[in-house]
Amino acid sequence: MVVNVNVEFAARDARSAAERGDLIVVIDVLRCCTSIIKALANGARSVIPARTLREAYGLHDKHPEYLLAGERKGLKPKGFDLGNSPQDFTRRLISGKNLVMTTTSGTFALVRSKPARWIFVAALLNSRSVSVKALRIAENEGRNVSLVLSGEEGRFSLEDFICAGAVAARFPRSKVSLFDEAWAAVMAFEQSKSDLYETISKTRHGRHLVRLGLSRDVEFSCQLDVLNVTPICREGKITRLE
Ligand code: MLT
Repeated sequence: MVVNVNVEFAARDARSAAERGDLIVVIDVLRCCTSIIKALANGARSVIPARTLREAYGLHDKHPEYLLAGERKGLKPKGFDLGNSPQDFTRRLISGKNLVMTTTSGTFALVRSKPARWIFVAALLNSRSVSVKALRIAENEGRNVSLVLSGEEGRFSLEDFICAGAVAARFPRSKVSLFDEAWAAVMAFEQSKSDLYETISKTRHGRHLVRLGLSRDVEFSCQLDVLNVTPICREGKITRLE
């Protein structure tokens, strides 16, 4: 069976992809998914995505040993242990810990994907590893794949589209049928892959982070396939796929 590969341009559309029975890949290069991947690579036990600050504080009240991580307007909310900078997620701070995370768009896309059987978390750091595992599962279970761009407050994000292209580009052509959106994403990736920072630091959100003095986060997030970590979200918890 050939696997159809679709792109959803906004986080809210994760729900319809989930209802179609697709395997979902949630993408947020700047910075939520990048930080989740870094956290799991550095030994975090799990990351629990929360939609709102209130929900995150509530989970923390119930489990005070959990670390609170995330952002609003790019900055660490009051009382949080960690922001949303991938640099914050050091082994020393998070190894063996459960994290509750809430961000503006990335955790929203993850929560919207909830009805899906398979939800993968991708960024440039792990696009190859997600691509290989997602295709294997989609083929075995006869599912199609939806690459969901978290975007920015409901708007399209070029960096997430490029990353969707990085995932789709690695699918062997004989095994998949790329919808036009996915094909366009592959073209955007091919066009920018020789210097991802050059393009991504000029996107709307890239510029915002640079203005906040967070260009190191953008640089970190632009590294391609440096981590062989495939996070999956199941029953509201993100862990590493073994
Ligand atoms: C988000 O989920 O909206 C982003 O990760 C925002 C950010 O860069 O902190």
